[in-house]
Amino acid sequence: RDELMFSYKGILYPITICSAEAFKALESFEARSDDVILAAYPKSGTNWLRRILIDLIAISQKKTPGEEGSGNAEKPEEIPYLEVGDPEKYERMTKLPSPRFMATHLYPENLPTSIFRNKVKILLLIRNPKDVATSFFHFSNGVAIFPSYETWDDFFTDFMSKKVAWGCYFEYLSEWNKHIDKENIMTITYEELKENRALGVKNIAAFFGIPLTEEELQLVVERSSFRSMKKKSEKTHGTIGSILFRKGGVRDWKNLFSEDQNEKMDKVFEEQVAGTKLGKMLKYDVYCK
Ligand code: A3P
Repeated sequence: RDELMFSYKGILYPITICSAEAFKALESFEARSDDVILAAYPKSGTNWLRRILIDLIAISQKKTPGEEGSGNAEKPEEIPYLEVGDPEKYERMTKLPSPRFMATHLYPENLPTSIFRNKVKILLLIRNPKDVATSFFHFSNGVAIFPSYETWDDFFTDFMSKKVAWGCYFEYLSEWNKHIDKENIMTITYEELKENRALGVKNIAAFFGIPLTEEELQLVVERSSFRSMKKKSEKTHGTIGSILFRKGGVRDWKNLFSEDQNEKMDKVFEEQVAGTKLGKMLKYDVYCK
């Protein structure tokens, strides 16, 4: 773990894609009021929402999502991670036309203050902590940027003690909870999107002011199905595609958590998150019991 991660302001990050220099440069990043930000803790379904956003952007630009030669790429790099890259990246971003799209796994307090000052629209995606931990464990063992774990128990211990990349999910939730009443922030859960993708896509489009015909809506819904994304994963994500699109469901945690681990997480959730608005949105009793 020590070789693959570094600590910045008390949070671990993967050293192969992040750096303290870039984080320092990010502090003075000047957000534009028409920037668009997708915020999600790792393994919450970030790439799913990136797909939906990329297609909605294409529609708002009068292009057909995924159509050859329409100029809209299939790749998630269209929505790059704000905190991933070299320190000069922010200078380069000043030259990009509006609107700029970016994703982030950062706690809100580690985002550049201009994002909040300029009331940038933020789509916050959250997922139930037991499935997040499960997904994170499998992903850590599948990709080189994260440490791999011999046992699930080892990963669980790290997940519960802020020793995984991008910090502690419970802290993440309680920090973001302080912001979610702002009009420029929309929150969506992985589980509600899983239950009703069409409604989720409609709500997201409405939040960004993108009008959708029924046909366009159906296209975005179809292209964001797990099956369809998994099928194209090599084209869109390269070799990590097959690892990233793993199961795409809810309650897979039941295959990993011991009774003791269940109790531990339930207790922490109860103490730190359950009473908050975000905590209630997660419907913990439905998805984590
Ligand atoms: P699992 O590991 O539980 O399968 P992220 O993109 O933030 O890394 O999150 C990855 C998780 O989102 C994985 O969860 C992945 O399968 C799931 N996911 C990706 N696309 C999805 C889709 N279209 N529908 C449902 N889940 C999806």
